[in-house]
Amino acid sequence: MTGIPDKHLTLFRTIGEVAESINQQVFVVGGYVRDYYLNKLSSDITDIDFVSVGSGITLAQKVATKLKANRISVFKKFGTAQVKFNGLDLEFVGARKESYRKDSRKPAVENGTLEDDQLRRDLTINALSWCLNPGSFGVLHDPFGGISDLKSRIIRTPIDPGQTFDDDPLRMMRAIRFATQLDFNVEDKTMAAIKKMAHRLTIISKERIIDELNKIVLASRPSSGFSLLLESGLLGEFFPEMVNLLGVDEKKGQRHKDNFWHTLEVLDNIAETSDDLWLRWAAIMHDIAKPPTKRFSPDTGWTFHGHDALGAKWVPRIFRRLGLPMDERMKYVQKLVRLHLRPIALASEEVTDSAIRRLIYEAGDELEDLMALCRADITTKNEWKQTKFQKNFDRVEKNIKEVEEKDRIRNWKNPISGEQIMEVLNVKPGPVVGQVKERIKNAILDGIIPNDDDEAYRYLLKIKEEYT
Ligand code: CTP
Repeated sequence: MTGIPDKHLTLFRTIGEVAESINQQVFVVGGYVRDYYLNKLSSDITDIDFVSVGSGITLAQKVATKLKANRISVFKKFGTAQVKFNGLDLEFVGARKESYRKDSRKPAVENGTLEDDQLRRDLTINALSWCLNPGSFGVLHDPFGGISDLKSRIIRTPIDPGQTFDDDPLRMMRAIRFATQLDFNVEDKTMAAIKKMAHRLTIISKERIIDELNKIVLASRPSSGFSLLLESGLLGEFFPEMVNLLGVDEKKGQRHKDNFWHTLEVLDNIAETSDDLWLRWAAIMHDIAKPPTKRFSPDTGWTFHGHDALGAKWVPRIFRRLGLPMDERMKYVQKLVRLHLRPIALASEEVTDSAIRRLIYEAGDELEDLMALCRADITTKNEWKQTKFQKNFDRVEKNIKEVEEKDRIRNWKNPISGEQIMEVLNVKPGPVVGQVKERIKNAILDGIIPNDDDEAYRYLLKIKEEYT
C-alpha cells in the first residue's frame, strides 16, 4: 500500500481497529483498490467503499462514533450506510450473498462471506479488496484475477457474465464505460453476453444510464465507447436516432459519407480540444437529423438540406428522453446544432460584414464554441482539403474579430425600447412596436446605420412617417 496518502492510511487503520473490536472483518473494495493498482489514485478522491463480514450498518455507526463524524445516513433496505468524514463519503456494506434483485420471499439482504460479496460484483477489476483488520492489514484479496486483468487490460465479469448482468443490467453499460475510460478490451465472452442481453437495459432508469453514458462522452477517446455501444446493441436501446446515422447509400456512382462514423470523428476531434460535456453533446447531435433530410439529385448529388434546423428541433425531445437537463445546457446544444453550418457558409472570399454581424449576433457567447465545432466537423482525409477548410475558418475568425472590434455586436441589445417607439409614433402597445424594433435591428445588423444609440434614434425619427 505504498503511495497511499497518510490521511487515508490512518483512516483505514482506525476502521480496521473498530471492526476488530466488534469481531468483524472489514475490507476496502472497488474503485479505490482498482485505481491504486492503475496508478490513478487521485488525492481528491471523494468515495471509498468498504465491505464488512457482518453488519455494515453497525460497523458504520461504530466508525462514525470513533471518528466523531456526526453525519451518517443509513439505508436499511440495502444494508448500507454512509459516513461523511473530512470531505470523504465512506460507504459501508455488509458482505452479501445472492443478488441485488428484490425477491419478496427472500430477505433483500442475506449475510455472506467476503468471497460471496466479491463474486457478486460487476467486474474482476472492481472485485479487488484489502483487509484492514490489524493482523492482516493491507492483505490483497483477488479471487478472480483482477490484478492480472488490469495488467492485460481486460474487462471481464467475475462469474458467468449472464448472471452478473442479470443481477443488474446497468453493468453492461459499466463494462463499456470502464473499457472506454481505461482503454481496455472487453473479453469476448463478456461482450457476447452483452449482445445477448442488451434488451434488458430497458428495465434500468434513464438517470443511471445517462450517468454512465456521460462518463463515456467525457472519456479521452469517446468514439471507442460509442463503437462498443453500437456493436453490442446497447446504443439502439436508448439512442436509436444515433444508430440511424449508420450506413452509406450509393446512386449513380455517388456515395455520401457514413454519418455515424463521421459523428464519432467529430466527437473525438472536439474531445482533443475541450473537456466540456455540452460541447461534446453538440458534436454528437450536430448531424442527428441527416437521415430524414437525405435527398439525391443527379445534378447536385447527395444533400441533407435543413438537417441543421430539424436537428435543433429534435434536441429537446432527445434530451428529455435521455434524462439530460432541459435548461440552458439543452438550449446551448440546440443553438450549436442550429448554427453549425453558418460559419461554412461564411467561408467564401466575398462574405459581407453584414453576414458576419448576423452570426456574431445570433451565436453570442457561443461563437467560439461554434467555431470549435465547425473545425472539428472537418473530417476529410485529403490533406489539401483539410488545410484549405481550416484556412477558410481562419479567415472567418479574422473577419469576426474585425467586425467585433468595429461594431460591438456581441450580446447586442436594441438601443431603442418599446416605450420610445410608442412615444415617437404615438401608438399603443401592438404588433407595430415589434415591427419597428425588428427594422431597427436589421438596419444595424445590415450596416445601414452604425451600432449607436443616437443614430438608432435618428433612424426611428426617419422611418416614423411610414408607420403613422
Ligand atoms: N458495483 C457493482 N455493480 C454496480 C455498481 C457498482 O458491482 N452496478 C460495485 C463495484 O465493485 C464497484 C463498487 O460497487 O467497484 C463501487 O461502485 P461505484 O462507486 O459506482 O464505482 P467505482 O468502481 O468506485 O468507480 P467510479 O467512481 O469510476 O464510478
